[in-house]
Amino acid sequence: MKKIYKAHILYTKEKSHFEVLENSYVAVDADGRVTGVTTDLAESDSEDAEVTDFGDRLLIPAMNDLHVHAPQYRNQGIAMDLELLPWLQDYTFPEEMKYANLGYAERMYRRFVHDLWRFGTMRACVFATIHTESTRLLMRLFQEAGMGALVGKVAMNRNCPEGLSEPVEETMLGYEALIDEFNKPEALVRPIVTPRFIPSCTPEMLLACGELAAKYQMPVQSHLSENKDEIALVQTLEKESTSYGDAYNRYGLFGQTPTLMAHCVWTEGEEMELMKRNGVMVAHCPTSNLNVSSGMAPIRRFLDEGLRVGLGSDISGGHDLNIFRMMVYAIQVSKMYYQQNHQQPFLTLTEAFWLATKSAGGFFGRVGSFEPGYEFDALVINDNDLNHDNYSLLERLERYIYLGDDRQIEHRFCCGKEIKEPRIS
Ligand code: GUN
Ligand code: FE
Repeated sequence: MKKIYKAHILYTKEKSHFEVLENSYVAVDADGRVTGVTTDLAESDSEDAEVTDFGDRLLIPAMNDLHVHAPQYRNQGIAMDLELLPWLQDYTFPEEMKYANLGYAERMYRRFVHDLWRFGTMRACVFATIHTESTRLLMRLFQEAGMGALVGKVAMNRNCPEGLSEPVEETMLGYEALIDEFNKPEALVRPIVTPRFIPSCTPEMLLACGELAAKYQMPVQSHLSENKDEIALVQTLEKESTSYGDAYNRYGLFGQTPTLMAHCVWTEGEEMELMKRNGVMVAHCPTSNLNVSSGMAPIRRFLDEGLRVGLGSDISGGHDLNIFRMMVYAIQVSKMYYQQNHQQPFLTLTEAFWLATKSAGGFFGRVGSFEPGYEFDALVINDNDLNHDNYSLLERLERYIYLGDDRQIEHRFCCGKEIKEPRIS
Protein backbone atom coordinates (compact mmCIF):
# COMPACT_ATOMS: atom_id res chain seq x y z
CA MET A 1 0.00 0.00 0.00
CA LYS A 2 1.10 3.56 -0.74
CA LYS A 3 2.21 5.53 2.32
CA ILE A 4 2.41 9.26 2.92
CA TYR A 5 4.37 10.86 5.76
CA LYS A 6 3.92 14.45 6.89
CA ALA A 7 6.63 16.37 8.78
CA HIS A 8 9.27 19.06 8.23
CA ILE A 9 11.36 17.50 5.48
CA LEU A 10 15.09 18.20 5.02
CA TYR A 11 17.47 16.54 2.57
CA THR A 12 20.27 17.31 0.12
CA LYS A 13 19.99 16.65 -3.64
CA GLU A 14 23.35 18.38 -4.15
CA LYS A 15 26.25 18.99 -1.87
CA SER A 16 25.84 22.76 -1.69
CA HIS A 17 22.14 23.09 -1.05
CA PHE A 18 19.55 21.89 1.49
CA GLU A 19 15.99 21.19 0.45
CA VAL A 20 13.85 22.41 3.36
CA LEU A 21 10.09 21.82 3.20
CA GLU A 22 7.99 22.92 6.14
CA ASN A 23 4.90 20.83 6.98
CA SER A 24 5.24 18.77 3.81
CA TYR A 25 4.60 15.29 2.52
CA VAL A 26 6.70 12.45 1.19
CA ALA A 27 4.92 9.68 -0.69
CA VAL A 28 6.32 6.13 -0.74
CA ASP A 29 5.10 3.33 -2.99
CA ALA A 30 4.50 -0.30 -2.05
CA ASP A 31 8.10 -1.19 -3.05
CA GLY A 32 9.46 1.30 -0.52
CA ARG A 33 10.50 3.91 -3.08
CA VAL A 34 9.82 7.62 -2.87
CA THR A 35 7.37 8.82 -5.51
CA GLY A 36 7.51 12.51 -4.60
CA VAL A 37 7.81 15.25 -2.01
CA THR A 38 5.23 18.03 -1.94
CA THR A 39 4.13 20.92 0.24
CA ASP A 40 0.45 20.46 -0.62
CA LEU A 41 -1.37 17.18 -0.74
CA ALA A 42 -4.11 16.92 -3.35
CA GLU A 43 -7.19 14.94 -2.36
CA SER A 44 -6.47 12.45 -5.14
CA ASP A 45 -2.91 11.78 -3.82
CA SER A 46 -4.10 10.44 -0.50
CA GLU A 47 -7.10 8.48 -1.78
CA ASP A 48 -5.66 5.00 -1.51
CA ALA A 49 -2.78 5.87 0.81
CA GLU A 50 -2.11 5.52 4.50
CA VAL A 51 -1.20 8.98 5.83
CA THR A 52 0.94 9.43 8.97
CA ASP A 53 1.33 12.88 10.47
CA PHE A 54 4.56 13.36 12.42
CA GLY A 55 3.58 16.91 13.38
CA ASP A 56 6.46 19.21 14.34
CA ARG A 57 9.17 16.57 13.87
CA LEU A 58 12.02 16.58 11.36
CA LEU A 59 12.08 13.93 8.63
CA ILE A 60 15.52 13.33 7.11
CA PRO A 61 17.31 10.57 5.17
CA ALA A 62 18.81 7.83 7.38
CA MET A 63 22.56 7.53 7.95
CA ASN A 64 25.01 5.37 5.99
CA ASP A 65 28.27 4.10 7.52
CA LEU A 66 30.72 3.32 4.73
CA HIS A 67 33.41 1.74 6.89
CA VAL A 68 33.07 -0.16 10.14
CA HIS A 69 34.61 -3.27 11.73
CA ALA A 70 31.87 -5.24 13.52
CA PRO A 71 34.29 -7.56 15.38
CA GLN A 72 36.12 -4.59 16.90
CA TYR A 73 33.01 -3.54 18.81
CA ARG A 74 34.35 -4.70 22.17
CA ASN A 75 37.43 -2.50 21.65
CA GLN A 76 35.38 0.65 21.08
CA GLY A 77 36.80 3.44 23.23
CA ILE A 78 39.91 1.60 24.43
CA ALA A 79 43.46 1.02 23.20
CA MET A 80 44.14 4.42 21.67
CA ASP A 81 47.85 4.69 22.45
CA LEU A 82 49.43 3.31 19.27
CA GLU A 83 49.63 4.00 15.56
CA LEU A 84 48.08 1.65 13.02
CA LEU A 85 50.52 -1.26 12.60
CA PRO A 86 51.29 -1.97 16.29
CA TRP A 87 47.65 -1.17 17.15
CA LEU A 88 46.54 -3.97 14.82
CA GLN A 89 49.01 -6.48 16.25
CA ASP A 90 48.51 -5.65 19.93
CA TYR A 91 44.79 -4.95 20.20
CA THR A 92 42.83 -5.65 17.06
CA PHE A 93 44.02 -9.05 15.84
CA PRO A 94 43.72 -10.68 19.30
CA GLU A 95 40.10 -9.48 19.54
CA GLU A 96 39.17 -10.60 16.02
CA MET A 97 40.51 -14.09 16.75
CA LYS A 98 37.69 -14.56 19.26
CA TYR A 99 35.18 -14.69 16.39
CA ALA A 100 36.03 -18.31 15.77
CA ASN A 101 33.61 -18.78 18.66
CA LEU A 102 30.03 -18.42 17.39
CA GLY A 103 28.59 -17.80 20.84
CA TYR A 104 30.91 -14.86 21.40
CA ALA A 105 30.22 -13.61 17.87
CA GLU A 106 26.46 -13.69 18.40
CA ARG A 107 26.64 -11.78 21.67
CA MET A 108 28.81 -9.04 20.20
CA TYR A 109 27.23 -8.88 16.75
CA ARG A 110 23.72 -8.51 18.18
CA ARG A 111 24.95 -5.51 20.19
CA PHE A 112 26.65 -4.09 17.15
CA VAL A 113 23.59 -4.30 14.87
CA HIS A 114 21.42 -2.96 17.67
CA ASP A 115 23.62 0.08 18.14
CA LEU A 116 23.80 0.89 14.43
CA TRP A 117 20.00 0.91 14.61
CA ARG A 118 20.11 3.07 17.72
CA PHE A 119 22.00 5.86 15.98
CA GLY A 120 19.87 5.76 12.84
CA THR A 121 22.37 4.03 10.54
CA MET A 122 20.24 1.95 8.19
CA ARG A 123 23.03 0.90 5.79
CA ALA A 124 26.62 -0.06 6.45
CA CYS A 125 29.68 -1.42 4.68
CA VAL A 126 31.07 -3.81 7.24
CA PHE A 127 34.28 -5.76 7.77
CA ALA A 128 33.68 -9.05 9.62
CA THR A 129 36.58 -11.48 10.23
CA ILE A 130 38.09 -14.40 8.36
CA HIS A 131 35.53 -16.71 9.99
CA THR A 132 32.85 -17.75 7.50
CA GLU A 133 30.33 -18.98 10.08
CA SER A 134 30.34 -15.87 12.23
CA THR A 135 30.23 -13.72 9.08
CA ARG A 136 27.13 -15.64 7.99
CA LEU A 137 25.65 -15.04 11.43
CA LEU A 138 26.28 -11.29 11.16
CA MET A 139 24.59 -11.22 7.75
CA ARG A 140 21.57 -13.06 9.13
CA LEU A 141 21.35 -10.59 12.01
CA PHE A 142 21.21 -7.71 9.53
CA GLN A 143 18.49 -9.57 7.61
CA GLU A 144 16.56 -10.22 10.81
CA ALA A 145 16.75 -6.50 11.65
CA GLY A 146 15.67 -5.43 8.14
CA MET A 147 18.68 -3.16 7.74
CA GLY A 148 20.92 -2.87 4.67
CA ALA A 149 24.54 -4.05 4.75
CA LEU A 150 27.41 -5.06 2.54
CA VAL A 151 29.34 -7.48 4.72
CA GLY A 152 32.87 -8.68 4.03
CA LYS A 153 34.42 -11.91 5.16
CA VAL A 154 37.97 -10.64 5.64
CA ALA A 155 40.69 -12.14 3.45
CA MET A 156 44.10 -12.24 5.17
CA ASN A 157 46.99 -14.68 5.14
CA ARG A 158 50.18 -12.89 6.21
CA ASN A 159 51.68 -10.59 8.85
CA CYS A 160 49.14 -11.69 11.44
CA PRO A 161 48.78 -14.34 14.17
CA GLU A 162 48.23 -17.87 12.94
CA GLY A 163 44.63 -17.87 14.18
CA LEU A 164 43.75 -15.04 11.80
CA SER A 165 45.48 -16.37 8.72
CA GLU A 166 43.48 -18.46 6.26
CA PRO A 167 44.80 -20.20 3.14
CA VAL A 168 43.59 -18.76 -0.18
CA GLU A 169 41.58 -21.86 -1.16
CA GLU A 170 39.68 -21.90 2.12
CA THR A 171 38.94 -18.22 1.88
CA MET A 172 37.54 -18.66 -1.61
CA LEU A 173 35.40 -21.63 -0.49
CA GLY A 174 34.05 -19.52 2.35
CA TYR A 175 33.20 -16.73 -0.07
CA GLU A 176 31.45 -19.14 -2.45
CA ALA A 177 29.25 -20.38 0.41
CA LEU A 178 28.29 -16.83 1.40
CA ILE A 179 27.73 -15.82 -2.22
CA ASP A 180 25.47 -18.82 -2.69
CA GLU A 181 23.31 -17.81 0.25
CA PHE A 182 23.34 -14.02 0.01
CA ASN A 183 24.44 -12.66 -3.36
CA LYS A 184 21.00 -11.77 -4.77
CA PRO A 185 20.79 -8.61 -6.93
CA GLU A 186 18.06 -6.75 -5.00
CA ALA A 187 18.89 -8.04 -1.52
CA LEU A 188 19.44 -5.57 1.32
CA VAL A 189 22.25 -7.69 2.76
CA ARG A 190 24.97 -8.81 0.37
CA PRO A 191 28.58 -9.93 0.51
CA ILE A 192 31.47 -7.67 -0.51
CA VAL A 193 34.99 -8.79 -1.41
CA THR A 194 37.22 -7.67 1.47
CA PRO A 195 40.99 -8.13 1.32
CA ARG A 196 42.01 -6.51 4.64
CA PHE A 197 44.82 -4.44 3.10
CA ILE A 198 47.96 -5.18 1.11
CA PRO A 199 50.18 -5.98 4.13
CA SER A 200 47.71 -8.72 5.23
CA CYS A 201 47.37 -10.47 1.85
CA THR A 202 49.88 -12.35 -0.29
CA PRO A 203 49.87 -11.65 -4.05
CA GLU A 204 48.01 -14.97 -4.51
CA MET A 205 45.28 -13.85 -2.10
CA LEU A 206 44.95 -10.45 -3.77
CA LEU A 207 44.75 -12.04 -7.20
CA ALA A 208 42.10 -14.51 -6.05
CA CYS A 209 40.07 -11.65 -4.55
CA GLY A 210 40.25 -9.69 -7.80
CA GLU A 211 39.17 -12.72 -9.80
CA LEU A 212 36.30 -13.41 -7.41
CA ALA A 213 35.05 -9.81 -7.69
CA ALA A 214 35.19 -10.06 -11.49
CA LYS A 215 33.51 -13.47 -11.61
CA TYR A 216 30.47 -12.37 -9.60
CA GLN A 217 30.66 -8.65 -10.43
CA MET A 218 30.84 -7.99 -6.71
CA PRO A 219 31.89 -4.78 -4.97
CA VAL A 220 35.24 -4.51 -3.19
CA GLN A 221 36.30 -2.75 0.03
CA SER A 222 39.68 -2.30 1.66
CA HIS A 223 42.02 0.23 3.31
CA LEU A 224 44.24 2.69 1.41
CA SER A 225 47.04 5.11 2.36
CA GLU A 226 45.97 5.46 5.98
CA ASN A 227 49.33 5.66 7.76
CA LYS A 228 52.90 6.51 6.74
CA ASP A 229 54.49 3.31 8.10
CA GLU A 230 51.80 1.27 6.34
CA ILE A 231 52.51 3.03 3.03
CA ALA A 232 56.25 2.42 3.42
CA LEU A 233 55.57 -1.26 4.13
CA VAL A 234 53.41 -1.58 1.01
CA GLN A 235 56.26 -0.07 -1.04
CA THR A 236 58.57 -2.86 0.14
CA LEU A 237 55.94 -5.57 -0.48
CA GLU A 238 54.82 -4.39 -3.93
CA LYS A 239 58.04 -3.16 -5.53
CA GLU A 240 56.62 -3.03 -9.06
CA SER A 241 53.78 -0.75 -8.07
CA THR A 242 54.03 3.00 -8.55
CA SER A 243 51.58 3.72 -5.71
CA TYR A 244 49.56 1.87 -3.06
CA GLY A 245 46.47 2.30 -5.22
CA ASP A 246 48.35 0.99 -8.24
CA ALA A 247 49.11 -2.18 -6.27
CA TYR A 248 45.38 -2.86 -5.77
CA ASN A 249 44.76 -1.96 -9.40
CA ARG A 250 47.20 -4.62 -10.61
CA TYR A 251 45.09 -7.26 -8.86
CA GLY A 252 41.77 -5.98 -10.24
CA LEU A 253 40.78 -4.49 -6.89
CA PHE A 254 40.61 -0.81 -7.77
CA GLY A 255 37.41 0.12 -9.56
CA GLN A 256 37.11 -2.87 -11.90
CA THR A 257 33.91 -3.41 -9.87
CA PRO A 258 32.45 -0.77 -7.49
CA THR A 259 35.24 -0.14 -4.97
CA LEU A 260 35.39 1.56 -1.60
CA MET A 261 38.70 2.51 0.02
CA ALA A 262 38.82 3.60 3.64
CA HIS A 263 40.94 6.59 4.76
CA CYS A 264 43.05 7.85 1.80
CA VAL A 265 44.70 10.25 4.26
CA TRP A 266 47.91 10.45 2.22
CA THR A 267 46.42 9.95 -1.25
CA GLU A 268 47.68 12.40 -3.87
CA GLY A 269 49.12 12.60 -7.38
CA GLU A 270 49.01 9.43 -9.40
CA GLU A 271 46.97 7.52 -6.82
CA MET A 272 44.29 10.21 -6.84
CA GLU A 273 44.24 10.30 -10.64
CA LEU A 274 43.78 6.53 -10.72
CA MET A 275 40.92 6.73 -8.22
CA LYS A 276 39.28 9.38 -10.36
CA ARG A 277 39.74 7.42 -13.55
CA ASN A 278 38.47 4.17 -12.02
CA GLY A 279 35.64 5.71 -9.96
CA VAL A 280 37.03 4.41 -6.66
CA MET A 281 35.09 5.83 -3.70
CA VAL A 282 36.60 7.18 -0.46
CA ALA A 283 35.27 6.23 3.00
CA HIS A 284 36.42 9.17 5.14
CA CYS A 285 36.85 8.19 8.81
CA PRO A 286 37.86 11.35 10.68
CA THR A 287 37.65 9.99 14.26
CA SER A 288 39.76 7.00 13.41
CA ASN A 289 42.31 9.25 11.73
CA LEU A 290 42.48 11.31 14.93
CA ASN A 291 42.64 8.37 17.37
CA VAL A 292 45.20 6.21 15.56
CA SER A 293 47.10 9.39 14.72
CA SER A 294 46.93 8.83 10.97
CA GLY A 295 46.54 12.40 9.76
CA MET A 296 43.97 14.62 8.03
CA ALA A 297 42.48 13.46 4.75
CA PRO A 298 42.20 16.17 2.06
CA ILE A 299 38.45 15.87 1.60
CA ARG A 300 37.90 19.30 0.03
CA ARG A 301 40.50 18.40 -2.59
CA PHE A 302 38.77 15.07 -3.27
CA LEU A 303 35.43 16.82 -3.73
CA ASP A 304 36.96 19.44 -6.04
CA GLU A 305 38.48 16.64 -8.11
CA GLY A 306 35.07 14.97 -8.38
CA LEU A 307 35.93 11.89 -6.32
CA ARG A 308 33.05 10.14 -4.59
CA VAL A 309 33.27 10.35 -0.79
CA GLY A 310 31.18 9.09 2.15
CA LEU A 311 31.71 8.89 5.91
CA GLY A 312 32.68 5.90 8.06
CA SER A 313 32.90 5.32 11.81
CA ASP A 314 35.75 2.80 11.49
CA ILE A 315 35.04 1.27 14.89
CA SER A 316 37.35 0.64 16.74
CA GLY A 317 40.05 2.89 15.25
CA GLY A 318 37.14 5.31 15.53
CA HIS A 319 35.38 5.38 18.90
CA ASP A 320 32.01 6.76 17.83
CA LEU A 321 29.33 4.84 15.95
CA ASN A 322 27.10 7.88 15.52
CA ILE A 323 27.32 9.15 11.92
CA PHE A 324 25.79 12.51 12.86
CA ARG A 325 28.83 13.01 15.06
CA MET A 326 31.01 11.90 12.13
CA MET A 327 29.69 14.91 10.19
CA VAL A 328 30.89 17.15 13.02
CA TYR A 329 34.33 15.51 13.13
CA ALA A 330 34.63 15.76 9.34
CA ILE A 331 33.89 19.48 9.48
CA GLN A 332 36.26 20.04 12.40
CA VAL A 333 39.13 18.11 10.83
CA SER A 334 38.65 19.97 7.56
CA LYS A 335 38.88 23.26 9.49
CA MET A 336 42.24 22.21 10.94
CA TYR A 337 43.39 21.06 7.52
CA TYR A 338 42.38 24.42 6.06
CA GLN A 339 44.32 26.32 8.71
CA GLN A 340 47.42 24.19 8.17
CA ASN A 341 47.34 24.48 4.38
CA HIS A 342 45.84 27.93 3.77
CA GLN A 343 44.31 27.06 0.46
CA GLN A 344 40.99 25.30 0.60
CA PRO A 345 37.71 26.24 2.24
CA PHE A 346 36.60 23.86 4.98
CA LEU A 347 33.57 21.60 4.69
CA THR A 348 30.15 23.09 5.31
CA LEU A 349 27.30 21.48 7.23
CA THR A 350 25.41 20.97 3.97
CA GLU A 351 28.37 19.15 2.44
CA ALA A 352 28.87 16.96 5.51
CA PHE A 353 25.17 16.02 5.53
CA TRP A 354 25.28 15.24 1.83
CA LEU A 355 28.42 13.09 2.34
CA ALA A 356 26.64 10.98 4.97
CA THR A 357 23.35 10.67 3.08
CA LYS A 358 23.14 10.97 -0.71
CA SER A 359 26.83 10.59 -1.48
CA ALA A 360 27.44 7.59 0.78
CA GLY A 361 24.04 6.12 -0.07
CA GLY A 362 25.13 5.93 -3.71
CA PHE A 363 27.28 2.92 -2.86
CA PHE A 364 24.11 0.95 -2.00
CA GLY A 365 22.02 2.09 -4.98
CA ARG A 366 19.44 4.88 -4.98
CA VAL A 367 19.73 5.63 -1.28
CA GLY A 368 20.17 8.79 0.81
CA SER A 369 17.76 11.28 -0.78
CA PHE A 370 14.01 11.81 -1.10
CA GLU A 371 14.07 12.31 -4.87
CA PRO A 372 11.64 10.14 -6.82
CA GLY A 373 12.89 6.57 -7.20
CA TYR A 374 15.03 6.65 -4.05
CA GLU A 375 14.52 3.91 -1.49
CA PHE A 376 12.82 5.45 1.52
CA ASP A 377 15.50 5.30 4.24
CA ALA A 378 14.48 7.88 6.81
CA LEU A 379 14.60 9.08 10.40
CA VAL A 380 11.97 10.95 12.33
CA ILE A 381 13.61 13.31 14.82
CA ASN A 382 11.74 14.74 17.79
CA ASP A 383 14.03 17.56 18.91
CA ASN A 384 11.61 19.03 21.44
CA ASP A 385 14.21 18.90 24.20
CA LEU A 386 16.77 20.77 22.03
CA ASN A 387 14.31 23.20 20.46
CA HIS A 388 13.78 25.82 23.14
CA ASP A 389 13.81 29.00 21.11
CA ASN A 390 12.81 30.29 17.70
CA TYR A 391 15.16 28.21 15.60
CA SER A 392 14.72 27.80 11.85
CA LEU A 393 14.27 24.25 10.56
CA LEU A 394 17.85 24.19 9.34
CA GLU A 395 19.14 25.45 12.68
CA ARG A 396 17.10 22.73 14.39
CA LEU A 397 18.77 20.12 12.22
CA GLU A 398 22.20 21.63 12.87
CA ARG A 399 21.59 21.54 16.62
CA TYR A 400 20.46 17.94 16.37
CA ILE A 401 23.62 17.03 14.45
CA TYR A 402 25.87 18.75 17.00
CA LEU A 403 23.96 18.06 20.22
CA GLY A 404 21.52 15.21 19.66
CA ASP A 405 21.83 11.45 19.89
CA ASP A 406 19.60 8.37 19.77
CA ARG A 407 17.18 9.83 22.31
CA GLN A 408 15.67 12.14 19.71
CA ILE A 409 15.18 9.47 17.01
CA GLU A 410 11.56 8.31 17.19
CA HIS A 411 11.21 6.27 14.00
CA ARG A 412 13.62 4.64 11.57
CA PHE A 413 12.82 3.40 8.06
CA CYS A 414 14.87 1.28 5.70
CA CYS A 415 13.63 0.78 2.13
CA GLY A 416 10.13 1.88 3.10
CA LYS A 417 9.75 -0.37 6.15
CA GLU A 418 9.75 0.86 9.72
CA ILE A 419 12.65 -0.84 11.54
CA LYS A 420 11.93 -1.79 15.13
CA GLU A 421 14.55 -2.24 17.82
CA PRO A 422 16.61 -5.38 17.10
CA ARG A 423 16.88 -8.00 19.82
CA ILE A 424 20.16 -7.99 21.74
CA SER A 425 19.85 -11.48 23.21
N1 GUN B 1 44.07 -1.41 8.13
C1 GUN B 1 44.00 -2.75 8.10
N2 GUN B 1 43.16 -3.21 9.03
C2 GUN B 1 42.67 -2.14 9.67
C3 GUN B 1 41.73 -1.98 10.74
O1 GUN B 1 41.18 -2.93 11.30
N3 GUN B 1 41.49 -0.69 11.12
C4 GUN B 1 42.07 0.38 10.52
N4 GUN B 1 41.76 1.61 10.94
N5 GUN B 1 42.94 0.25 9.53
C5 GUN B 1 43.24 -1.00 9.10
FE1 FE C 1 39.15 0.14 9.02
